[in-house]
Amino acid sequence: MAKIKKIAVLTSGGDAPGMNAAVRAVVRAAIYHKLEVIGIEHGYEGMIKGELFKLESKDMRNIIQRGGTILRSARSKEFKTEEGRKKAFENLQKNNIDAVVVIGGDGTFRGAGIFSQDYDIPFVGIPGTIDNDMFGTDFTIGFDTALNTVVEAIDKIKDTASSHDRTFFIEVMGRDAGFIALHAGIATGAEAILIPELEGQIDHLRKFLDAAKAADKSSNIILVAEGNKIGGAQEVVNQLNGDYDDLGIRVNVLGHMQRGGSPTAFDRYLASRLGVAAVEAILDNQRSIMVGYSNHEVVHVPFNKTIKGHRNINKELLEVADILMI
Ligand code: F6P
Repeated sequence: MAKIKKIAVLTSGGDAPGMNAAVRAVVRAAIYHKLEVIGIEHGYEGMIKGELFKLESKDMRNIIQRGGTILRSARSKEFKTEEGRKKAFENLQKNNIDAVVVIGGDGTFRGAGIFSQDYDIPFVGIPGTIDNDMFGTDFTIGFDTALNTVVEAIDKIKDTASSHDRTFFIEVMGRDAGFIALHAGIATGAEAILIPELEGQIDHLRKFLDAAKAADKSSNIILVAEGNKIGGAQEVVNQLNGDYDDLGIRVNVLGHMQRGGSPTAFDRYLASRLGVAAVEAILDNQRSIMVGYSNHEVVHVPFNKTIKGHRNINKELLEVADILMI
């Protein structure tokens, strides 16, 4: 196998707080190991268009605490085509790139997996998404920060909910996974949590709202994961057919603010560890793997497992939520 001299790094898919800390760790670890580093802007889109530029250690100053990604991000349609991937390969070759570190979610790893079946360039992935839905890692970079952002927002909504005796349906992100909703629900003491992983939620909700009415409970927080089977928070309310309007129902969609902000200490720590681990994996001739974090240890998980595997919601967490909602 040819000696690795030059690597590239990119961020792709939805941005997540801590991506900058991961880029910093990759760049500094690479330089520490005497490798050259190239940054690719706008993820795979930039790989196709040739948005490549040299990164140095000094470029990484003062970014560990910044949200978003200095490399920018995109969801590339063209990379899904053979022609797009060919252009991307030509740009990597032209710039003598020996390996690539990709920071993103399952879409990013799927793209990397397909690319490396056709072209002989090692790809190593770092899980970066607020959704925390990647199989093979206990946490993804950005989840902890998003969770704290959601908790802060809900605490504020609770103040006004209790002042006005209202019931708020709050919609949070997570695509088709309920991790943000479940963890935030437990952390804020929400009265009910609707997540995509569970069936029959509307019946459950009706029972809860009936009990709340009977008990004269004046304010409630219902957390709705955006991907749940009924739909977003507004759809859930629509399905109640006005039966609970006397609870003073309001809908609040938190939206993209969940993806912004300075990363928490945990996300910076995780990003730093995984960034170094990704470079070391490349030097160790690993390819098509994600560096993940499981039971406080760095682990290597093949891309095809991270994509195909579904990360299950922890049953114990569901039980904790249920017990504390009485
Ligand atoms: O995957 C991260 C995420 O924020 C999801 O939670 C959400 O469903 C999606 O991205 C939104 O994507 P976009 O910013 O492209 O609308």
